[in-house]
Amino acid sequence: MGGAMPLTSESAVVVFEKVRIAFDGREVLRDLSFSLRKGETKILLGETGAGKTVLLKLAAGLIRPDAGRIEVVGKDVVEMSERELLTFRSRIGFVFQEGALFDSLTVRDNVAFRLREERTPDEEIEQRVREALRFVEMEDSVDKFPADLSGGMRRRVSIARALVGKPEVVFYDSPTAGLDPVTSQTIIALLLRLRDLQGVTSLLATHRVQDFFGMASFRFDKEQNKVVANASESDARQSNASSTPTNVLLLRDGAPEFEGDAQAVLKSKDPYLNEFLVSAR
Ligand SMILES: Nc1ncnc2c1ncn2[C@@H]1O[C@H](COP(=O)(O)OP(=O)(O)OP(=O)(O)O)[C@@H](O)[C@H]1O
Ligand SMILES: [Mg+2]
Repeated sequence: MGGAMPLTSESAVVVFEKVRIAFDGREVLRDLSFSLRKGETKILLGETGAGKTVLLKLAAGLIRPDAGRIEVVGKDVVEMSERELLTFRSRIGFVFQEGALFDSLTVRDNVAFRLREERTPDEEIEQRVREALRFVEMEDSVDKFPADLSGGMRRRVSIARALVGKPEVVFYDSPTAGLDPVTSQTIIALLLRLRDLQGVTSLLATHRVQDFFGMASFRFDKEQNKVVANASESDARQSNASSTPTNVLLLRDGAPEFEGDAQAVLKSKDPYLNEFLVSAR
């Protein structure tokens, strides 16, 4: 895992190499390197202020680093012009922290927003909006306004909005933050379906280690049409052939503290990682 081989756009969807960014003279990310392969889910775990949102915004080209290389879907995000970035952003999906829906627009118009900007024909927009809303089980709310929805429903709509353009990679910023435990579980179940049925490649920022275990220890089983546990290590290995790998990248003081899968997390003696595990009990 992690290997020393330099990764190129052919093997990775996201590459960060020695990325550094500071605000007001304070380093938020320093020398950060990691990569995300096609079909992989990487959980960016870190306490509040660890730089998770900054990392995702860098990946989306919304902000630029002070140093380092960032490559996403084969594009050099650091060097791109604003015009190139607009085209680039249509290839990625971003679920913003707190959802960030437009309050004055209906669910339909929120989800359709980017397709309209891209001048997609109206008929196709309606079809794709409905398809995306159906997947997140929110089709009935197509004419409602965000204010009429619960927090979990709003989160679903923002996920539909990120998916409607059929992006090659999705960045989820704290998709369960502020939700109660039951609603958080339903969001994780939705992300499992996206990962296992649609093969969505994603970076998911969270401060909850439960989100990592939710993604790493379960899978959506197509035949049974439900979320099932990866019962044992051998089962996990077997299912790995069809399901996708999920790893964690723990951020601490702007650098990776730990990287690995669920087995590695449970075996780890890293005291900082352990604090996360204890806090989740
Ligand atoms: N535009 C900015 N100007 C100044 N400081 C910033 C800016 N953006 C982020 N920061 C700082 O960078 C650090 C990391 O912020 P970030 O929002 O990435 O944290 P986070 O890991 O997403 O936290 P949370 O779990 O609370 O969402 C914080 O100290 C924040 O104050
Ligand atoms: Mg954040």
